[in-house]
Amino acid sequence: KSMKILVATEKPFAKKAVEGIREIVEEAGGELVLLEKYTDKAQLLEAVAEADALIVRSDKVTAEVIAAARRLRIVVRAGAGYDNVDLAAASERGIVVMNTPGQNSNAVAELAVALMIFMSRNRFTPGTGSEIQGKTLGIHAYGNVGRLVGRKGKALGMNVVAYDPFLSDPAVFEADGVRRVGSVEELYKTADFLSLHIPATAETKGSIGYDLLMSMPKGATLVNTARKEVIDEEGLMRALTEREDLKYVTDIAAGNQAALDEAFGKRVFATPKKMGAETAEANLNAGLAAARQIVDFFRTGNTRFQVNK
Ligand code: 3PG
Repeated sequence: KSMKILVATEKPFAKKAVEGIREIVEEAGGELVLLEKYTDKAQLLEAVAEADALIVRSDKVTAEVIAAARRLRIVVRAGAGYDNVDLAAASERGIVVMNTPGQNSNAVAELAVALMIFMSRNRFTPGTGSEIQGKTLGIHAYGNVGRLVGRKGKALGMNVVAYDPFLSDPAVFEADGVRRVGSVEELYKTADFLSLHIPATAETKGSIGYDLLMSMPKGATLVNTARKEVIDEEGLMRALTEREDLKYVTDIAAGNQAALDEAFGKRVFATPKKMGAETAEANLNAGLAAARQIVDFFRTGNTRFQVNK
């Protein structure tokens, strides 16, 4: 019996990416099952029951989904953040979970730059704005996306500083002409623009709030293309209230976004739907990488990108 690879994407990949995934799967003798734009969890539970492998985006792979997936051996999150997958539930069943690091990073980095310019030009409404050239760009976490934002910031004439608690090799920062700072406090204190690139984990959830925001320079903008969960929303609300010069722009609407929009008008902005990785290129890169990683896993046992080792 041929292996069944389920692509379950509430927010579908571009058509070209799906075609490419199909080619890789069928070439390997597998069968592609496509569940796009599903609206009900029950559809995913039903589809996953027969799947040997699963490709998702931000789709929630909960313990319930894992329990329904009787034959499942591997889940690949086509993208970077895997906070949508219940790793403990997968590990308990011996299911391998992977991501596709770096594959959609440039799309997210370009959006971060776009959001900075958008905010410094009054959200493209009349009136005098400001330039990003000469300003200090702080990058919180210097991974695949952070590095690309850093390099783009340098190219745009920004002074770039970065902090990454898991990256102590100074050469990585030096290679990009980026100044490494030793603490999160030091980073926020100097950043006219602060671009967030931390994952949502038990440690980071709710970690960006009142104190860090209040420490930022006059007129600073917090740019969030990471996850809404890392923000302490109550603290954000309080800081924006007390500091009329601060701005917040995000690709992932806050839980209290309507209240933020209402209270702060042009100083805040959220994209209508998370779109950081929504480019044809990112879809293709991440989608094909996911399919290749699955085929390689079944063929050779390669677990290079496993995140639940
Ligand atoms: C990621 O973690 O890769 C990004 O947040 C993209 O998420 P998406 O596939 O849901 O657009």
